[in-house]
Amino acid sequence: MGKTIIVTGGAGFIGSNFVFHMLENHQDDRIVCLDKLTYAGNLSTLAPVMENPNFRFVKLDICDREGVNQLFEEEHPDIVVNFAAESHVDRSIENPQVFLETNIIGTSVLMDACRKYGIERYHQVSTDEVYGDLPLDRPDLFFSEQTPIHTSSPYSSSKAGADLLVLAYHRTYGLPVTVSRCSNNYGPYHFPEKLIPLMIINALNDQPLPVYGEGLNVRDWLYVEDHCRAIDLIIHRGTVGEVYNVGGHNEMRNIDIVKLICKALNKPESLITHVADRKGHDMRYAIDPTKIHNELGWLPETKFADGIQKTIDWYLNHEDWWQPIISGEYQRYYERMYGNRAE
Ligand code: NAD
Ligand code: TYD
Repeated sequence: MGKTIIVTGGAGFIGSNFVFHMLENHQDDRIVCLDKLTYAGNLSTLAPVMENPNFRFVKLDICDREGVNQLFEEEHPDIVVNFAAESHVDRSIENPQVFLETNIIGTSVLMDACRKYGIERYHQVSTDEVYGDLPLDRPDLFFSEQTPIHTSSPYSSSKAGADLLVLAYHRTYGLPVTVSRCSNNYGPYHFPEKLIPLMIINALNDQPLPVYGEGLNVRDWLYVEDHCRAIDLIIHRGTVGEVYNVGGHNEMRNIDIVKLICKALNKPESLITHVADRKGHDMRYAIDPTKIHNELGWLPETKFADGIQKTIDWYLNHEDWWQPIISGEYQRYYERMYGNRAE
């Protein structure tokens, strides 16, 4: 018999890709997407699956205990996968409070419902940012699951708080949890406040490309579908109580990504504008994915050269998705964030 899986944050970037992945690969399962539809959540993203009989969308805040309990009573989920979060480091620097509410309190509300109604698995989608950063002059170092938590931003601190709480619910109450900590994702439906979609859209509009500082910071990029496959494996075959790092050894400097996007779109590098650096800016993220490879056989399938081309093509062909996003509240965000940011 199929399972009922609650996917929180399924109207966002990775959550929506996960919803599509699950509906395609587990056709007996029922996917219930719970999302508050914050600025980052887009119902239009889910339009292709809205009529699917195995899919249900519920507009709900994960901090709303009564609403969450009611949904559990209605659906009796077997598995809960928690993507719902405030996810942007720059916004967390501007206003940390909502990060603590959604990322920590919201996680506890979901887990309390899991305890009350009983589930097979609660999966927490976390990030490599909980490990802090690595120095640029030590390319031999990587984040393993044993690397100490050492956060830099309100965002990563709130994610780390949630991770610790999830592992505590396992130890204290025996809740069957797993945690995944993934590196930076890229791909379709990525909200244009983040590096790759922001640069693609600005370049398409011949707007300046705002690189923080010198652009030498390194991120370890993974195509979003590879992340979705990893979570699918962990919820089905991962060991309860365990943390799994997810990443594909694909480290790139920000400046090189921006230059690559200019080249792919045939835009001049003179669009690149160096702006004031992010406060507390992490230098390098790099994941050691040995555990998930050895235990679950996971390997990334999409090479960066192919993934970035697919992503650029997607943005070229889906202006109807991103144009409404960048013409509303986003304009005010952009002005606040970049309006007065000369180096
Ligand atoms: P996103 O910002 O694109 O989407 C977040 C979604 O959560 C949105 O649909 C939003 O409406 C929803 N949401 C926010 N607050 C909510 C609340 N209180 N109740 C219900 N729904 C709420 O984020 P994303 O990039 O898709 O990230 C998803 C998860 O993956 C996050 O937990 C993030 O920490 C983690 N993660 C992201 C990356 C990355 O590169 N983007 C990498 C590793 C881990
Ligand atoms: P981002 O996509 O915000 O992800 P994260 O900070 O969670 O890794 O940023 C990726 C990198 O790109 C990070 O080093 C900050 C940098 N960056 C810029 O240089 N300019 C920008 O406009 C943005 C949004 C990010």
